[in-house]
Amino acid sequence: MIIAANFKTNLTRYQTREYFTALERFIHDNGLSQEVLVFPAMSSLYSHSGKAIMGVQNAYPAVNGAFTGEIGCEQLNEFGIKTILIGHSERRHVLGETQEFIAAKYEFYKNLGYKIIYCIGEPLHVRESGEEKMLEYLRAQLVGIDTAYENLVIAYEPVWAIGTGLTPTLEEIEKLHTILSLTCKTKILYGGSVKADNAKEILALENVDGILVGSGALKVNDFCSMISDAQKLNK
Ligand code: PGA
Repeated sequence: MIIAANFKTNLTRYQTREYFTALERFIHDNGLSQEVLVFPAMSSLYSHSGKAIMGVQNAYPAVNGAFTGEIGCEQLNEFGIKTILIGHSERRHVLGETQEFIAAKYEFYKNLGYKIIYCIGEPLHVRESGEEKMLEYLRAQLVGIDTAYENLVIAYEPVWAIGTGLTPTLEEIEKLHTILSLTCKTKILYGGSVKADNAKEILALENVDGILVGSGALKVNDFCSMISDAQKLNK
């Protein structure tokens, strides 16, 4: 399974290094074989070698150029980073990224062979308007996205579940993942208020191939316990 941590705008470079050191030790000492991805803040990136893969939360679809405040793949190459989050709800809803721009970013990093964790998810008002509307909304977030790309991983993260402590029911998560798996023949992670105490039951669901964890992963011990949960499930 894939167990991923998104630090968002948290932890310093020093704290990130300490985190990776503890994480690598845990993975090694416990002989864990899960795929572990960690997305630190941009200023905390460095060349990491180990079992855990360091990815980037965002990058501009360019090698380099005049894109103030952004980084391109030239900066990522410096650290050997080949894994990226695209379409995260905070990029869509807080930073205003459009589907068109997200699709262009996807295409750019796909052509470079990056592993792409592509995030989709509906806001609460969409969910409350019924299943058909919700699926329509999620399908629109896949417009312009090559879902047959071999290095694609989808993360389904309901917007209303991110950082709120709320989650859909286990049945709802399983149902949605099953529907998505019919059209996207790729791994599908669940994200949104996953914590050390609910990770195992979510990971156990059919068609859930892993988790993408924000605040619940900021303490390395909690993240490690989720990796152990995945290992025990042996899916
Ligand atoms: P959360 O965030 O775990 O803090 O809800 C998840 C995410 O945004 O990827």
